[in-house]
Amino acid sequence: MPNFTLMLEYILNKPKVLITRRWPEVIEKAMSSNFDITLNTDDKVLSAEQLKQALQEYDAICPTVTDSMPENLFSAEEYRTRIIGNYGVGYNHIALDAAKAKGLIVTNTPDVLTDATADLAMTLMLMLARRAGEGERQVRAGEWKGWYPTHLMGSMITGKTLGIVGMGRIGRAMAEKAHFGFGMRILYHNRKPLSETDSRRLQAEYCTELTWLMSKSDFIAVHCPSSPLTKHMINEKTLAYMRPGSYLINTSRGDVVEEKALIKFLQKGLIAGAGLDVFENEPTVPQELIDLENVVLLPHLGSATEETRIAMGMRVLGNLNSFFNGETPPDQL
Ligand code: DGY
Repeated sequence: MPNFTLMLEYILNKPKVLITRRWPEVIEKAMSSNFDITLNTDDKVLSAEQLKQALQEYDAICPTVTDSMPENLFSAEEYRTRIIGNYGVGYNHIALDAAKAKGLIVTNTPDVLTDATADLAMTLMLMLARRAGEGERQVRAGEWKGWYPTHLMGSMITGKTLGIVGMGRIGRAMAEKAHFGFGMRILYHNRKPLSETDSRRLQAEYCTELTWLMSKSDFIAVHCPSSPLTKHMINEKTLAYMRPGSYLINTSRGDVVEEKALIKFLQKGLIAGAGLDVFENEPTVPQELIDLENVVLLPHLGSATEETRIAMGMRVLGNLNSFFNGETPPDQL
């Protein structure tokens, strides 16, 4: 039941909205025509104290993955904030149950970053297979001495087997690109199998056991969200099932992979390499990973295209508009 007094208040006074990091200008402008927005002009990560304070001062807060909002942030009795419009699809940085328990609405931005993230996973897969990082470093260091037949020989991805861990929107987009673009055979591990139509179209094989998928894949791409269930799902035990020539790619969240175990496997040459866009303690990247040649390391760029970042902002705007009009936001979690 909409709160009509509050709605009237939002009609008379634009809702106060905090945007915790800078967004593309066009979308900041769009937000400012509907709301009384505050921008974090320094674009520095806000402290827990600042976020706590913000919950008392703003009608809406629009955080990103860098804003940690754990359970203890929601310990006050009363809040001014009614909605947290997360700028991103992943929301493991927000204690969802604690926020909901205090009556807050939380939304995210699904769909709009699916292709950008799958494209980046493809980038990592190709860079690993074709040793592009090593080649680029060689050229920049002035160490390239010319063409020769055995120089930086990589491997084909065409016709190889890709194991997808987490067959949600992004996992499916990855399967499409890899299968139709590169003729890859698709295996996947997920809570439930694809529909009959999708699995036939992608010729995708469902693996109930993660370890089976890991033992049969040339490339393994992680696309499941972070949750207590998926934390360290790729660990010393499961990594042991990977083939010596196989590669791991992670564009989801760092804590799905136990970084320490991965480093051990890479250092010992037990797997061929890893392509990582996400890390357990961002923005810290372990020196052991930086020291390895057979890894490609990117700074959490999955959704970093102009089109996508604008679309993400539009999605937040849509959610806030719905909420302040007394409707259910389309992406309410
Ligand atoms: C997402 O949308 O989850 C991206 O990783 C950025 O938060």
